[in-house]
Amino acid sequence: MARKKIVAGNWKMNLDRAAATALAAGVAARRGEVSAVHLVLCPPSVYIGTVGTALNLSGDTSPSGVWLGGQNMHDKASGAFTGEVAPGMLVDMGCRYVILGHSERRTLFGETDATVNAKTKAALAAGLVPIVCVGETLEEREAGNTQAVVTEQVRGSLAGLSPGELSQVVIAYEPVWAIGTGRVATPEQAQEVHALIRSLLGSMASPTVAADVTIQYGGSVKPDNAAVLAAQPDIDGALVGGASLKVDDFLGIAAAFNS
Ligand code: 13P
Repeated sequence: MARKKIVAGNWKMNLDRAAATALAAGVAARRGEVSAVHLVLCPPSVYIGTVGTALNLSGDTSPSGVWLGGQNMHDKASGAFTGEVAPGMLVDMGCRYVILGHSERRTLFGETDATVNAKTKAALAAGLVPIVCVGETLEEREAGNTQAVVTEQVRGSLAGLSPGELSQVVIAYEPVWAIGTGRVATPEQAQEVHALIRSLLGSMASPTVAADVTIQYGGSVKPDNAAVLAAQPDIDGALVGGASLKVDDFLGIAAAFNS
């Protein structure tokens, strides 16, 4: 997959059906303002169908130009896994993307690099683009361990992928201390880790593959801090939480990457 600018909204466990429909329709209606950016909406799983309808998704096309993603999935195709969603089910509902290994999944639901690795392989096998999340905690950053932590997460979450598979993956660097805190990483802090991730991909696959991979930043991205992040050479988009719940804010962030 050639490197492109991707701005994705992680709605987390927010909104109701009417609000989800209105938000998706609102983004789709103004999609033309940010036509150089690939937009992805990741609603709560029960609203994926509703949002797909609002986006007018049909088969493998999105007339609105806005794509749908899951926030999580199981790594098995089907079976006795109460409460879980299979990769093929996301595809069936029109999803092209799936967020994997979000820090909330890792810290609140016990996901490990091994879990994320199994899910990443399953997503690719199902034809989904995995958005694989990595990022250090405040404690880890203050102890000087950011590079080691992120390196281990990238290597573990993407272990065993072929260069061709690695070129299909999107990575989101989300420092845990910046998520939902209003405390955004400085552009220099973010760029440093993005460059590290790209060089890791270079050693795991090749420099050509590394140059092709979209690496998003996530953590308190807002319209007023997106431009300085977007100006960094290795920041290719954003994974947005809170600000993705408002059309103006989400599109304001996308506008910063629209060049
Ligand atoms: P906030 O943008 O609300 O900080 O959330 C970031 C995030 O977790 C996106 O996945």
